[in-house]
Amino acid sequence: MDVQALYALRDVAGVPTHPVVFLILGVVTWALHIAAVQIMMGASALTLWGALSQDAKRRRLAQSMLPVSKFMLSLAVFLGVAPLLFVQVIYDPFWYTSNVLSAWWVIGFIVILTVAALLNMVFYNNNKSLGTTLKTTCPGAMVLSIVLLLVVGFIMHVLTYQMLLPEQWMSWYAPNGQLDTSGKVLHAYSLPRFLFFISLSAPVVGAVLVGYQRYYRPRLGDETANMSAAYLDWVGALGMKLITFGGVLSVALGAWWMLTLPETMTFFAGSIWMWIGLVSMLLFVAFAQWVRSHMNTGWAYAVLPVGAVLVIILAIAKEALRWGVLYGVHGYNVMDYKINMDWYSTIMFFVTFLVVGGLTITYIVLVAWHAGQTKGVYTPSAAITKVGRYALWSIVLFMVQFFAIGFYVWMR
Ligand code: HEM
Repeated sequence: MDVQALYALRDVAGVPTHPVVFLILGVVTWALHIAAVQIMMGASALTLWGALSQDAKRRRLAQSMLPVSKFMLSLAVFLGVAPLLFVQVIYDPFWYTSNVLSAWWVIGFIVILTVAALLNMVFYNNNKSLGTTLKTTCPGAMVLSIVLLLVVGFIMHVLTYQMLLPEQWMSWYAPNGQLDTSGKVLHAYSLPRFLFFISLSAPVVGAVLVGYQRYYRPRLGDETANMSAAYLDWVGALGMKLITFGGVLSVALGAWWMLTLPETMTFFAGSIWMWIGLVSMLLFVAFAQWVRSHMNTGWAYAVLPVGAVLVIILAIAKEALRWGVLYGVHGYNVMDYKINMDWYSTIMFFVTFLVVGGLTITYIVLVAWHAGQTKGVYTPSAAITKVGRYALWSIVLFMVQFFAIGFYVWMR
């Protein structure tokens, strides 16, 4: 495709800071998004597995995984918006064309996602004590929720994939010279690529389980927690199995993806990024195997952050593939986007992200961490309360400056 046609689709206003900032933030936030998606899918599957069984341990695990799946669903959606913003800023010619070509699905995405989330909540509200009863109410809601979430993920996959094939856009827009403006067709997809990212749910949720079984050890003997050492040992062993077999499955799907790359993407198979991705996956599984003999120590917590590093590496590799196609094959260079520098919004973004976000998340994580390990009622320490107070003040200050700058610009 003529690269000038692609450049002509760019926003004439330019971008408000250097494109490399958007590129890095896009990769990092997508890694967070997909990690949340993977925990959500893994926790939903484990919930269903337990809810459909009569086994006490599986049901107890389902009771724990159900709120994880609900929470991770909101987090996945929340964290999906960030890469959406970055991808549409620097890749707008590709992203919007891909969206318009399948517009019906882009709008449908919101409806399908809303129904999926509602179904998850219906199941959650009707099954709060799966671990203490043998009755499961309305399991169909959870089944349908998982299916619809997969449809939502598939739509995202198609939009991301179609943007990599600009040479085919015209044939999709006007097949045999006849315009198709319906937006009803999903034109291109790669099943192995989609399944590869989804299959990582198994090792990622496995890493969560390894941390879970360590985290709840201090609650042993606490009747409200309803956990035994045998249950936690079983959860740890299950987590290890998911990491090992899920890891092998993901590697196999990755190989299938590499073997079926279309012509414009074959450079990626055998490239340095493919090898880095593969070696990182194997190292992650190997590290988890080593932790197997340290399950009752703090090392059990390390599996999840090591998994997070793996997801970031895979996100970089995925970006390298996009870069190789758009720049290497089509000559489109993200880095020469016109910059219309806006220091205020750039500084505001980082201050909000690091200070307001940092303080607030630190407070919530500290409180949740300690509350979960406390027998009886938990009261935060003075130091933690102080962090909460700083977090609140940072939010108030943010709102004040938000309206102040708004009024200033409006009055000028
Ligand atoms: C409001 C909800 C969501 C938003 C805004 C969102 C946003 C995004 C964006 C922007 C990308 C592409 C990132 C890029 O190209 O750099 C993406 C990729 C992806 N998302 Fe989401 N997402 C959402 C929900 C979900 C859900 C529920 C799933 C569940 C399965 C999911 C699974 C995926 C997958 C598998 C990819 C990778 C596609 C590929 O590269 O082939 N997303 N998402």
